[in-house]
Amino acid sequence: MSATAKRIGIFPGSFDPLHNGHLDLIERSHRLFDEMIVALLANASKQPLFAVEERVEMLEQVLARFGNCRVETFSGLLVDFARSRDASTIVRGLRSGSDLDYELPMTLMNRRMEPSVETIFLLPSADTLHLSSSLIKEVFKLKGDAVGAVPDQIRQQLIDKLRGA
Ligand code: PNS
Repeated sequence: MSATAKRIGIFPGSFDPLHNGHLDLIERSHRLFDEMIVALLANASKQPLFAVEERVEMLEQVLARFGNCRVETFSGLLVDFARSRDASTIVRGLRSGSDLDYELPMTLMNRRMEPSVETIFLLPSADTLHLSSSLIKEVFKLKGDAVGAVPDQIRQQLIDKLRGA
C-alpha cells in the first residue's frame, strides 16, 4: 500500500437485524480507516427475517452519523468483495471462545485465498457481549423486549414484523 492510499476496512455480516453489539464494533473500528464498508451478505443460505432491502435501509438509517461508513451488499466470497473494493482489512467481533472457534477457520481460509487482506478482531463492550441477532429475534417473537439491545427504529420494526403490524 502506498503512503497515500486510502485505508479501507470491511465489516461484514448478515445483520438480521443490526443490533447494538454490531453498532459498538462499528463505532470502535470506523476510526481506524479512511473508509469503512459495512457489507451485508445478500445470498446467505439461512432464511432471513428481514429482506436484504429492509436490512440495507436499517443500516443506512442507523449508520448515517458515521461520515466515513457506507453500506454495500455482496454475494460470493468475502475476499473477492474485499479485493474488488481495494480493502486492506476485514473487521470481526469476538464475544466468546465459541466465536473464535467459528472465526478461526474462516479467517485462515480467507488468508489462504487472499494473503494481502488482514482480518482483525475487536472485543465489544461488556454490556453488548451477550447480544446476537438470533437471541434478540427470539425474545421479540415471544413478546419480550430486549431493552437497549437494538436501535429504537429497529426495535419497532422487530415488533411490527414478529407480532404483526
Ligand atoms: O456475522 P455473520 O452473519 O455470521 O457473518 C458471516 C459472514 C458474512 C462474515 C460470512 O458468512 C462470510 O464471509 N460469507 C461470505 C462467503 C465466504 O466468503 N465464505 C468463505 C469463508 S472462508
